[in-house]
Amino acid sequence: MTDEAVPHKRRVRYVGTHPRRFEEKYKELNPEQHGLELQKVLDRGQTPAGMHRSICIEEILQLLAPQPGEVGLDATLGFGGHAQELLAKVLPGGRLFGIDVDPIEFPRTEARLRAKGFDASVLVLKRINFSQLPELLPEAGGGFDFLLADLGVSSMQIDNPARGFSFKTDGPLDLRLDPSSGQSASELLQSVTRQRLRELLVDNADEPYALPLAAALQGQYIETTTQLAELIRATLAGLWKRNMPEDERLAETKKTLQRVFQALRIEVNDEFGVLDAMLALLPSCLKPGGRVAILSFHSGEDRRVKKAFQSGERSGIYASVAPELIRPSFEERRANPRSSSAKLRWAIKAA
Ligand SMILES: C[S@@+](CC[C@H](N)C(=O)[O-])C[C@H]1O[C@@H](n2cnc3c(N)ncnc32)[C@H](O)[C@@H]1O
Repeated sequence: MTDEAVPHKRRVRYVGTHPRRFEEKYKELNPEQHGLELQKVLDRGQTPAGMHRSICIEEILQLLAPQPGEVGLDATLGFGGHAQELLAKVLPGGRLFGIDVDPIEFPRTEARLRAKGFDASVLVLKRINFSQLPELLPEAGGGFDFLLADLGVSSMQIDNPARGFSFKTDGPLDLRLDPSSGQSASELLQSVTRQRLRELLVDNADEPYALPLAAALQGQYIETTTQLAELIRATLAGLWKRNMPEDERLAETKKTLQRVFQALRIEVNDEFGVLDAMLALLPSCLKPGGRVAILSFHSGEDRRVKKAFQSGERSGIYASVAPELIRPSFEERRANPRSSSAKLRWAIKAA
């Protein structure tokens, strides 16, 4: 195509000296042309728009110890950061499978990885849920030598306001990893009972103000993240003691906003249900001596991983499991604050 045939697309205009909104960050969203800008953002401890910084890479490579010729699975492909590292270790002769449920980011990651030269003979990519692991087994030769799951959401998903994952930006109240299936958070709030809403706020995020919040939110038609955040703020404002200092109110409110969004996200994606299913399927998907590492980001996930691994060890399915959880190093947490809540556990299937 000649230059004349390429339609000229004006970049998004922004107010002030720096782009602030996600869609305005045109340099970060085009890293191929603006590599230096990207490095500056990374040096500030931030994640560039449209990117994800992989967590505990060294620890995961050490635990999974991928070898040339092996067949592995990245069960949460995301940006493909871990996948690239794992793939480099299984070559020559090996293969990596990569799966993800997200129909928006998956094709972008696929295009990025293919452009780096990883074709389908070494990198097998499928858009499926990790609760459907056994579907991969025939093509994988019956089992995997190692498996990684880096749970939750990627920075691309959190930072894109159109996905509705964050109370910090205005967007549709969706929160689904796969917006083409199931109920959005907005639909859930309209259809859920008050009792169930209260339970899920407690079970999914240990929310201490679950009772008044369930009363305020249940049955409401809340279309956007901002509307939900405002309703939560208004509900909490009516609960604070008159003498509560302003900075405490702000801090408590922020924690509740984070917890309510987390609780709704877990619910609309059935995150505990699919994690339990994957943990139950894992042993039959690993080869004897196969290794698994799971990165989780809150206590509800970590409890499930820990229990499944420990009960697998007791019954002899796993030869050994993580005696305690591994956290990102101080340096990593400082360089990438989004890694702060990460918890890593591992298990090795009996030979
Ligand atoms: C934290 S990100 C992974 C980032 C990735 N490790 C990297 O280095 O770029 C988690 C990813 O897992 C995906 N995911 C979450 N739950 C899933 C599930 N049940 N099945 C498949 N993918 C899932 C999300 O869509 C998201 O892309």
